[in-house]
Amino acid sequence: MKTNYKILVLSGDGIGPEVMREGTQLLSLAAERYEFRIEFQEGLVGGASIDAYRKPLTDSVLESAKGSDAVLLGAMGGPKWDSLDYSIRPERALLGLRQELGLFANLRPVKVFSALASASTLRREVVEGTDLLVVRELTGGIYFGQPKGVTKLPDGTERGVNTEIYTTPEIERIAGVAFEAARKRRRKVTSVDKANVLEATELWRKVVTRVHQAKGYGDVQLEHMLVDNCAMQLIRNPKQFDVIVTTNMFGDILSDEAAMLTGSIGMLPSASIGGKVGMYEPVHGSAPDIAGQNVANPLATILSVALMLRHSLDQAKVADDIERAVEEVLNEGYRTADIQEPGCRLVGCKEMGRLVQEKMQ
Ligand code: IPM
Ligand code: MG
Repeated sequence: MKTNYKILVLSGDGIGPEVMREGTQLLSLAAERYEFRIEFQEGLVGGASIDAYRKPLTDSVLESAKGSDAVLLGAMGGPKWDSLDYSIRPERALLGLRQELGLFANLRPVKVFSALASASTLRREVVEGTDLLVVRELTGGIYFGQPKGVTKLPDGTERGVNTEIYTTPEIERIAGVAFEAARKRRRKVTSVDKANVLEATELWRKVVTRVHQAKGYGDVQLEHMLVDNCAMQLIRNPKQFDVIVTTNMFGDILSDEAAMLTGSIGMLPSASIGGKVGMYEPVHGSAPDIAGQNVANPLATILSVALMLRHSLDQAKVADDIERAVEEVLNEGYRTADIQEPGCRLVGCKEMGRLVQEKMQ
């Protein structure tokens, strides 16, 4: 088994660097304790890269990413760069990395820790026990479809266009990821579309059904759900879901909604896979309003490190131990501000990171 890994760390903007510090410290500690080696490389992306190089993603960062075993990403963007043209906004770096690394599948596990069941804005009995996985298509659909852009019309008004496109192979490969993931879980896939209105997702439904039948996934239950209904079902009865597979934009929206079942978007990790190199990042953004104040929740980043260990580094045992350590710290009543509850012990970003580290000693 390989025991020496090259990890590219792209902390990004806002709270990115502070949550990442907790993630990488934990990873170094785990490497020592479980006897593998991590060689860290660092790079600038997003706003930090715009400030230094006038573009959100440089070729050299992209090259480092391609030459690494996995990429750990913090968060990107902030008001400082909001007035820039779309083509050079910080968020472009994220889209560029996804596309260039061929990361067509985004896994967003939504697991409600029992200790946090009452931190959700929904009732405990609705959310407790929720354990679902959003499989979001990540390199296609309306995010990348051509034509796109805003053009001026002769009468002086403007016209904005984006295009939702899915081809058979794109749908087949993401459906395959969802069915395989379901096999390791509770063997149910809910494919989410808007097949009653959008032709591109009518094709989505047809192809997912075909993959299910033709590729021998009879042991996995498949159901189809319209996206508006899914948005409702997620807060009505989230426990009905095991694996949700959906398009790029629907996955973006539904995963933020699903995040709130866990109490805070600060708890949600993600894995982007499908290419040679996987990329791991917290689902939350750069939260410029709380950056640098030591109040951010580092758990989404720490849980992303666990996903990286499991999916890219083949270190499932370490990943399990990290997830257990997080659960123990929560069970002991420690909370960052975003998941604070009466009677719990409020800690900052650094303290939360240190508490998880202590459990891994
Ligand atoms: C996400 C984010 C990104 C997306 C943005 C920052 C481009 O919201 O990863 O969910 O829309 O994919
Ligand atoms: Mg999003």
